Amino acid sequence: MSTGAIVAGCLAPHPPHLVYASNPPQNEPRAECGWEELRWGYERLRAVLDPLDYDVLVVHTPHWQTYVGTHFLGLPNFKSLSVDPIFPNLFRFHYDLNVDVELAEAICGRAAQAGLVTTMMRNPDFRVDYGTIVSCQMTRPAWDKPIVCISSARTAAWYSVEVMQEQALALGRATREAIEATGRRAVLLASNSLSHRHFTSEGDVPEDMSREHIYNHGQYLWDMRVLEHVRQGRGREIVDEMPEFVSQAISEADAGSMTWLMAALGMPDYPGQVHAYGTVIGTGNAVVSWVPA
Ligand SMILES: [Fe+2]
Repeated sequence: MSTGAIVAGCLAPHPPHLVYASNPPQNEPRAECGWEELRWGYERLRAVLDPLDYDVLVVHTPHWQTYVGTHFLGLPNFKSLSVDPIFPNLFRFHYDLNVDVELAEAICGRAAQAGLVTTMMRNPDFRVDYGTIVSCQMTRPAWDKPIVCISSARTAAWYSVEVMQEQALALGRATREAIEATGRRAVLLASNSLSHRHFTSEGDVPEDMSREHIYNHGQYLWDMRVLEHVRQGRGREIVDEMPEFVSQAISEADAGSMTWLMAALGMPDYPGQVHAYGTVIGTGNAVVSWVPA
């Protein structure tokens, strides 16, 4: 069997607005346009990923929130309607996705060996979270690759960012080991936004871009600081500064997705390519790829 590898790791944020504005046939609402910079950034990301000939997308999502450990989708197929609880006017998406159960079980098992509480989710009626669906739809709209979906254990909320980091680092290492052991060529997706303060009211036209801007300058400064670490190949600094980033920018990286990604990539000391930065209802979002040599 060939040696498996992570062929790319990505920041692949999941605002449902990006799917809404793209008008894929699976989504019921129709949009005129909107959030072009981020959507075109995803196009640039796809242009990097598509030639890599990968087997599977592995996504860590902030919106599958599990309160007893880390869960993994554990059946070969899930098919249903996903409705965003906050934006049902933007996202009613009919999904039909396949899971690489063997790889999911391998990550689950190695994470358990590392001391994490893990569970395979085998309920056929389980509804897959919109974070997973948006990140995968924007990264691979053809849905022709299986996915592995990893929940967020919400450790930052129940304990502290430091506890979240310890567990996300262990989960990232387990993910890498399992990919190598199973011979997969994997693309990893951290599904989170960066700064995450957002507006609480919506205009009559959701895609009215005259309303769209960063929530405040402090959030912007944090996003630029993190993206400069990305661009300069300072993966370890991103993890080191995570507690301050999460507390001061209310970052959605509190879910552990970005720490998990940095650990799985072995704390990249090479630059990540920033394909786009833009805001969605005031939150900071970046589309980034790290391609190991
Ligand atoms: Fe989110």
